[in-house]
Amino acid sequence: MWVYWTTSFSVCSLRRAKFPIIYPDPWLDYKVATRPSFRTFTPGLSRLRSFSQLQSPVVGERLFYMVANQKIVAAINEQMGNEFSAMLQYYAIAAHFGAEGLPELSAHFYKQAEEEKEHALRFIQFVIDTGARVKIPAVSAPQAHFEVAEDAVKLSLEQEEQVTTQINALVSMAKAEADYTVDNFLQWFIKEQLEEVASMGQLLRVVQRAGEGNLLRVEEYLAREKDSGVALSEEE
Ligand code: FEO
Repeated sequence: MWVYWTTSFSVCSLRRAKFPIIYPDPWLDYKVATRPSFRTFTPGLSRLRSFSQLQSPVVGERLFYMVANQKIVAAINEQMGNEFSAMLQYYAIAAHFGAEGLPELSAHFYKQAEEEKEHALRFIQFVIDTGARVKIPAVSAPQAHFEVAEDAVKLSLEQEEQVTTQINALVSMAKAEADYTVDNFLQWFIKEQLEEVASMGQLLRVVQRAGEGNLLRVEEYLAREKDSGVALSEEE
């Protein structure tokens, strides 16, 4: 169903004299909404204007958008890059452990990489669903080599902590803009990050306890966890 809310009404000029017809006027709404002084006091209407610039000229201008403003869409697009960056780093760590003859650690990080890809795809689909435009940023090359296993897992934990900070900042932005659609969407990531930080922290403790000379103990640990169905990182 199409609903249009207006504050502007015009009078039909042909019948102004005797039988005036009052009708809603979207063009007047647009003119008022784009006046700088009016935009200051009407965030709702200024959103309409800024988001119309994101739309395809083929589809045409829309009058209602699920996401509050361009700043949030830009930040979500940025987060897609962060998730893809995390994915690449995990693939690089998985390849490193594969080359070091540690197949369980390698498999663990391949799985983490797939999860990061899924996170990025969630953001992409969300932006599409809200009617905004996807713009994936460039990401830098991941670190490929590590002196010891502990360094790779430490980097992974730092990465998860950094993503948690990024997600929290997005939630703060959504709340500040009273954008409940974005806020609600991000709650899944809040829960996910708690799990990912906790599981990576646990793996780091296991690697530190085993020591570089006993990484086969870590391999046994990961194989056991996998077999028991209590993998370190469980997807919903
Ligand atoms: Fe998508 Fe593990 O952060």
